[in-house]
Amino acid sequence: LAARKEGYRYFMEKEIYEQPRVLADILTGRLGEQAVRLDELEADWLRPISSVTLCACGTSYHAALTGSYLLERLARVPARVEIASEFRYREPVLDPNGLFVVISQSGETADTLEAIKLAKAQGLATLALCNVDNSSIVREAERTLLLRAGIEKGVASTKAFSAQVLTLWLLALYWGQARAVLSGERHARELTALRAVLNVMQVQPRVHERLHRLSKRYLHGHGFFFIGRDLFYPLALEGALKLKEISYLHAEGDPAGEMKHDPIALADAELFTIALMARSTFYEKVKSNVEELSARDATLIAITTEDFELADDIIQIRPYDHPMLEFFEMLVVVQLLAMEIAIRLGNDVDMPRNLAKSVTVE
Ligand code: G6P
Repeated sequence: LAARKEGYRYFMEKEIYEQPRVLADILTGRLGEQAVRLDELEADWLRPISSVTLCACGTSYHAALTGSYLLERLARVPARVEIASEFRYREPVLDPNGLFVVISQSGETADTLEAIKLAKAQGLATLALCNVDNSSIVREAERTLLLRAGIEKGVASTKAFSAQVLTLWLLALYWGQARAVLSGERHARELTALRAVLNVMQVQPRVHERLHRLSKRYLHGHGFFFIGRDLFYPLALEGALKLKEISYLHAEGDPAGEMKHDPIALADAELFTIALMARSTFYEKVKSNVEELSARDATLIAITTEDFELADDIIQIRPYDHPMLEFFEMLVVVQLLAMEIAIRLGNDVDMPRNLAKSVTVE
């Protein structure tokens, strides 16, 4: 078993480091000079579709949320997101001309499988984003985009999540092309960013070392807030989920703008706030949200390119002018942070207590 970890301490660590290779596989054959290609879906199949519903559980749900921002922005198609276990029981009203997208690493999650069956029964077009070919969900779906992430062993999903997000980005762009809704300049900017994404996900030894050192300061306290806006809100949720899964510490992800409506009631020095402060995305607004927390004495860890004097700790990231590049750069940070904290606490990060890799019962 040790050999298969290829020198890494845990499968989770290996899988975090593997992400650039996974993203390269996903882009193979799909990233042209002028356009994105997705051979699995013809433009004619997508064109008549009037809306999209994304449905998933757990980490895959966070990818779905991220995808909803991308699909509305790049394809200009109305997008909504559903947690599979809620969706199937609430007599949902669906757009008969809509596309129902399910996202699942395993392809076997019971609630997600039932959700796609329900959408199919109502006559919607269906698409699965799955990591396992010939899984139950793939067999149910009309169309599939396989994730190409390779086998994921760590119960805490890392490379499957980045694969889901990248695949959704490609889908959004491809759909935007099919509907001709993007300006030439905007389209070119997306393609340039896609070409840069592999480098961004390369773990920088400097950053990993920093997180390793930093982790010892954050083993106690009464909780963690991960906050961000826009695309960085689903990332905040995912950062909190990673930490909870393997460290067993309490964490929550919140939209930074919602702070004042309740989470701020918890703020004090024992509350660790991880602020996802993306230069590309409403930086000043997030900054003022963070300042409010600081005024309540919250302990602040800022993930940012900027200097931020109120932060107790800064995790310096590289500057990018595209939100998705900042997203992937910060994703690596939150994954490694969760892992380093959990390792210091003496936990088996590959086999967290009470959790299963795939949940095939309701
Ligand atoms: C379980 C796993 C999570 C995963 C979720 C959905 O809870 O522990 O890591 O995100 O199921 O799984 P799926 O295979 O459908 O993506």
